[in-house]
Amino acid sequence: MVFSQTYLQKNADNLSPDEIMRWHIAAGVDETIGEESQNRFDAIQSAQALAPAPAQTPAPAAVQTITQNPKPIPDLTPGLPQMPPAAKANIKTPGHDQALKSAVKIAGDVKTIDELRAALEQFDGCALKKTATNMVFGDGNQSAKVVLIGDAPGADEDRQGIPFAGPSGTLLDKMLASINLSRSDVYISNTVFWRPPGNRTPNAGEIAVCQPFVERMVELIDPEILITVGGPATHSLLAQQGSVSKLRGKWFTFETPRMSRPIMATAIYHPDYLLSSPAMKRPTWHDLIEIRKKIDGLG
Ligand code: URA
Repeated sequence: MVFSQTYLQKNADNLSPDEIMRWHIAAGVDETIGEESQNRFDAIQSAQALAPAPAQTPAPAAVQTITQNPKPIPDLTPGLPQMPPAAKANIKTPGHDQALKSAVKIAGDVKTIDELRAALEQFDGCALKKTATNMVFGDGNQSAKVVLIGDAPGADEDRQGIPFAGPSGTLLDKMLASINLSRSDVYISNTVFWRPPGNRTPNAGEIAVCQPFVERMVELIDPEILITVGGPATHSLLAQQGSVSKLRGKWFTFETPRMSRPIMATAIYHPDYLLSSPAMKRPTWHDLIEIRKKIDGLG
């Protein structure tokens, strides 16, 4: 049985814990993270109330810079797939274009990975931040020759603030170990930095607004090889359409206007997919061997 919210509000005192729990499950709650319930929107409102009033100009600094700039902000995201107009309309939240411009400007201004993390912590242009517990920035070696980008943090990552911290991360670590790599040899992040509610796939708008930060991360780490892990990262960063089954095993190039040269890029199956389709581990093993050969060829 599923109860409407209105019914629940009127009758909550008469419902059993089991009925209340079933209502929560039907509403999309998939885990409990504390003894006391928290209204995170209250926390945001309290923070806003405590924030010092803006001196004269109400706009945040980055937005202000953009409105003062008479020239269009250069498009630093050439790899963005062209979305059909209908899809674009569906994912555009109010302020999406401004958030995207701010993201390009803010990400372009930072000079180190630590600055990038700090800038993202202040960035409110991605709606996923409102429902996430922690930001999941990245993990590994900031001077790595290999960067891996997955799709989105899940529940374990949201709790710990570390990418690939759950079962798919355990498999990813084994995949890396099979070609003699560990997390300290690579850098790992995702197309978005906050968990999408209910572990859904991040939508095109969420990916687009985080992409300037992901690209800046790759620019700052300056690796030789970019590995996209699963469909969303492959489509957004490599600007390729189609399934990973068609794209894996091929080599592409990745370059942004700020990079001194194109770097090698390839796509692999997502470990989540391998956990549910173990037969695909065999082709993935071949892909990993090819990646190892490219690393060895770097000298
Ligand atoms: N899946 C991903 O794509 N990224 C994570 O960080 C965890 C699971």
